[in-house]
Amino acid sequence: MQEKRAKWSGHLSFVLAAAASAIGLGNLWRFPYLAAQYGGGVFIVVYLVLSLTLGFTLLVTEISIGRKSRQSQITAFTMLGGRKWAWVGFFSTVVPFLILPYYSVIGGWVVKYFVHYFLATLGCASQIADPKVYFESFTSSGLSPVCYMVIFVVFTFSVIMLGVKNGIEKANAVLMPLLFFTAIALSIYILFLPGAMEGVKYYLVPNFSRCDNIGKVFLGAMGQMFFSLSLAMGIMVTYGSYMRKSSSIPRAAVRIAFADTFIAVLSGFMVIPVVHAFATTAGQDPETALKAGPGLLFMSLPEIFGTFGAVGNFLALAFFTLVFFAALTSAISMSEACVAAICDYLKWSRRKAAISFAVFVVFTGVVSALSIKALDFFDSLVNSLIMPLTAIGITVFAGWYYGVDKIVDEMESGGGVFRPKRTFAISLKYFAPLLVVAILVSEICRVLGIGGWNI
Ligand code: PHE
Repeated sequence: MQEKRAKWSGHLSFVLAAAASAIGLGNLWRFPYLAAQYGGGVFIVVYLVLSLTLGFTLLVTEISIGRKSRQSQITAFTMLGGRKWAWVGFFSTVVPFLILPYYSVIGGWVVKYFVHYFLATLGCASQIADPKVYFESFTSSGLSPVCYMVIFVVFTFSVIMLGVKNGIEKANAVLMPLLFFTAIALSIYILFLPGAMEGVKYYLVPNFSRCDNIGKVFLGAMGQMFFSLSLAMGIMVTYGSYMRKSSSIPRAAVRIAFADTFIAVLSGFMVIPVVHAFATTAGQDPETALKAGPGLLFMSLPEIFGTFGAVGNFLALAFFTLVFFAALTSAISMSEACVAAICDYLKWSRRKAAISFAVFVVFTGVVSALSIKALDFFDSLVNSLIMPLTAIGITVFAGWYYGVDKIVDEMESGGGVFRPKRTFAISLKYFAPLLVVAILVSEICRVLGIGGWNI
């Protein structure tokens, strides 16, 4: 039997839920290292401009499609555009379907580190002697990463089973303020550490010698923006389908983009000064140290925290709590998009859909947990191909087929006039598809090893 469609209690619940989805691992480690790689301030400025133009355009479009249709992504595109547009919905669903299993594996690693530092703060666990060995022996130990991944999945799906209002909304109301508080407190603490200002300079002052090609800076910022704002994954469509008519879509989108960018920029103030100071003392190049990818979170930072003695355990605990909340709320949003899509499309009950999907995530997650190669493969398949294709589908559907007027009507349906309509139309019809095609081409070149577009 189809259950009655859920609704957020109010405007703030929606903004909080969408921001909770947007703020995740992408903000905490990917943004700082991209900023370091692409000339500090140069990247930050490009990113800010892109998220307030292209990011805003795509956010309002996806939310409007969801609210208009009152459906999650698969059925939303079919309802508004007919069967020929169903592929856009399917593609958007494939993205979280593939991302969530390996995101849960990384979530499991975060739980493991959280537990370790929690015990270490209480004096019940010893210092990690060699973070590299610790990480590698943990991730390759077979059973342990699988167990931690299952714990992370259980956390995620307990919230999903409780529903939109009682689960997601309540979890965000607790986790998001804690996340903001921890992030602000930790950055202030780090900024007062000796030598932190050198890192801040490295982060903020535009340095053109560190970005040889401005095209690459744009592409890097754009790819980051898609991932960070949870675009082209059906999430904003699904969350939009629970939004009340009285909430203003443009106002919500500005707040979501702002909160997401704020945490991303703030993460730079936490991660860069710490890594910079450590690298300089150890005679290493800060850029190489910052480029360590996932290793930055699980190897470099633990190594650095280790040099702070007992305070280090406490700093690490605060940091991994922050990462855990960010990863959990993002995983919840991905699960919701998939579960809602299954319910709307197959007309299953929420319970049946949630349990079946959780089982799927655990089984596919095991593959990623046991093989880092599989994890990398899923990651690049989704980011390089499926996500850009979905984004092209959404912009062409909304800008050229369904129509800018209808999207704007939905935005204005709760009252008020959307003034920048002409700019929005140009952005949705021309600017957005062109930029997304550029991402797709550069990704294909990168995978095939053509040209110097390695991002
Ligand atoms: N936006 C999240 C981040 O910045 C990641 C995410 C990806 C969330 C996909 C939901 C879906 O880390």
